[in-house]
Amino acid sequence: MLHRAVYFLLAAFFLAACASSEVIINGTAVPPVPTLEAAMVEQGANLYAAHCAACHGAKLEGQPDWKQRNAEGVFPAPPHDGSGHTWHHSDEVLLYVTANGSTAFDPTSKMPAFKEALAEAEMRAILAFIKSRWGQREREHQWWVTATKNDARVIPTP
Ligand code: HEC
Repeated sequence: MLHRAVYFLLAAFFLAACASSEVIINGTAVPPVPTLEAAMVEQGANLYAAHCAACHGAKLEGQPDWKQRNAEGVFPAPPHDGSGHTWHHSDEVLLYVTANGSTAFDPTSKMPAFKEALAEAEMRAILAFIKSRWGQREREHQWWVTATKNDARVIPTP
C-alpha cells in the first residue's frame, strides 16, 4: 500500500510539473517561457531587416566562417538563429551588446552600438523577433539564463 501511495504522489508531482511547464536546468526551476507578442515580433522583423540583416543575414544566418577571425583579424557577424550563440546569453546581455556594441568585450569587434539609433523598446522587439526563430530548446535555455540572471556578471560596470 505504501508503495502505491508513493508512486501516486510521484506521478502527481510529475503531472503538476508538466502542466505548469516550468523550465528546470541544473536543478534550478524558473517559470514557464513567456509567450511572444505577435505585434512585437512583427515590429522586430521590420527593424531587424533595416538595422541588422546587412551583417547578421536576412535569414539570421550570419556571415560565412563566423567562428574564426577573418583575413583582417576580426570576427564576422554570427548567426542569430539556433545555429549561433545568441541564445546562450540573457536578455540583459543581448540588450547591452545591441545598445553599446561589443568593443567592451573585444576592441577589434565590428558590432556597432545602436543606442543612438534605436529605443530600448525597439531593441526588445528585435530580440522578440530573433527569439521567434528559435526552437523550444534554445528558447528554454535562453529564458532560464535570463530568469536566473546567470550571465549578467559579464556586463562591464561603467
Ligand atoms: C556592421 C555589421 C553589423 C550590424 C549592422 C549588426 N551587427 Fe551584431 N555583430 C556584428 C559582429 C561582427 C558581431 C561579432 C562581434 C564580435 O565577436 O566581437 C556581432 C555580434 C552581435 C551580438 C553578440 C553575439 C550574439 O549572437 O549574441 C549581438 C547580440 C548582436 N550582434 C546583435 C545585433 C543586432 C540586434 C543588430 C541590429 C540592431 C546588429 N547586431 C547589427 C556585426 C553587426
